[in-house]
Amino acid sequence: VNVPALISRKRDGGELDRDEWAAIVGGFVAGTVAPEQMSALLMAGVIRGFTTAEAEALTEILLASGEQLDLRGLRGPVVDKHSTGGVADTTTLVVAPILAAAGVQVAKLSGPGLGHTGGTIDKLAAIPGLRTHLTIEQMLRQVGEVGIAVCAASADLAPADKRLYALRDVTGTVPSPALIASSVMSKKLAAGAPNIVLDVKAGSGGVVGDRDEARGLAELCVRLGAAHGRRVRCLVTDMRQPLGVAVGNALEVRAAIEVLAGRGDRRLQQVAVALAQAGLDLVAEAAEPVRAEEVLASGAALEAFRKWIHGQGGPDADPEDLAKRLPAAPVRRAVTASAPGTVAGVDPRAIGELAVTLGAGRRHPSDVIDPAVGIILDVRIGDPVGAGDRLATIHAATETAADAAAGQLVGAIELTDGPPPQPPALVVDEVGPDPA
Ligand code: URA
Repeated sequence: VNVPALISRKRDGGELDRDEWAAIVGGFVAGTVAPEQMSALLMAGVIRGFTTAEAEALTEILLASGEQLDLRGLRGPVVDKHSTGGVADTTTLVVAPILAAAGVQVAKLSGPGLGHTGGTIDKLAAIPGLRTHLTIEQMLRQVGEVGIAVCAASADLAPADKRLYALRDVTGTVPSPALIASSVMSKKLAAGAPNIVLDVKAGSGGVVGDRDEARGLAELCVRLGAAHGRRVRCLVTDMRQPLGVAVGNALEVRAAIEVLAGRGDRRLQQVAVALAQAGLDLVAEAAEPVRAEEVLASGAALEAFRKWIHGQGGPDADPEDLAKRLPAAPVRRAVTASAPGTVAGVDPRAIGELAVTLGAGRRHPSDVIDPAVGIILDVRIGDPVGAGDRLATIHAATETAADAAAGQLVGAIELTDGPPPQPPALVVDEVGPDPA
């Protein structure tokens, strides 16, 4: 193919057909299309837009680049759950046990944290002994035995997406609905579940900025799933501030256990229940629908969590005891308000970046995560605060790291002395499973 001609066509607002995309993505993976050519093409598409046909073609090409799991051996309903990525977004650790407690199997392949957003695999790795790498046979056996397996995605699943995503991450070409939808859906399709719940985050802490864009992305994901015979239900949820109160791996596991025990953060609970309900509704056959909220309140989800963690190699412990045994940071530093006011903003991107700086995430794939560090937030948008009130607590490995983070954290929490801002709604839209 004449790569410069394809780049020019895209730059001028044109469309590439399936064969052209296959040639260029294949060439990029094989090394015959240079990264600068691929990134120029992607940037032209981010700016000029991609057609639905191009999103469909890209999804199929990424999907076909690797292996595809066959989950048909599992008896009973199976749901996968995925988030486009957020901060203090610990829903999987709550949603999966609610679904399992209601008799729905969860087979989920997850990734590590990306940029400022956390990853479920890193959170699970904070639990002593827990295995995040399972073979497909181990994964299927565990789903059959305890109803849940969440493990690291193998490098063989949509490997072309891995290469493309790494390029997009460093070339400003992540925020395109077609590129995000094809990236997410190729991996979900390869992972094999017939029912998929997607949490599309809208707001500065997620991959798309506003609600309309998030709805467009959700509609595209539902459509791409339907084209492959999958039922996809998307919730668009707020990411203008961190979802829960805990950012950092062990801190987030503890926050999830608190929600499962019925006394955790209300926002995390509400979104997790809404996502679990979406999963239950996708597979509902009974005339009497199962209510996720009731499953959570009954304590059955907490028990499902215990079985899951033990099944995957973690301690056979009451989750509340487990919470006490998780790694804890040696230094804690409270950050307080210097003047009274109302919280006008809690910048999720800045908070996520700060957690990465503390060691909760990676700047480079070879960085080693410190599971204990992170931030506990005490305030959210709309909260009144007095001078000296605590805004957040930093959990750090050293005094120096805590000092540096404290200065930055103050800048991430905006106070106003004007009229109190309206707290953002949590679930702002719902799409699927029928394509629009
Ligand atoms: N998550 C993904 O897997 N891919 C994207 O493009 C964005 C978020």
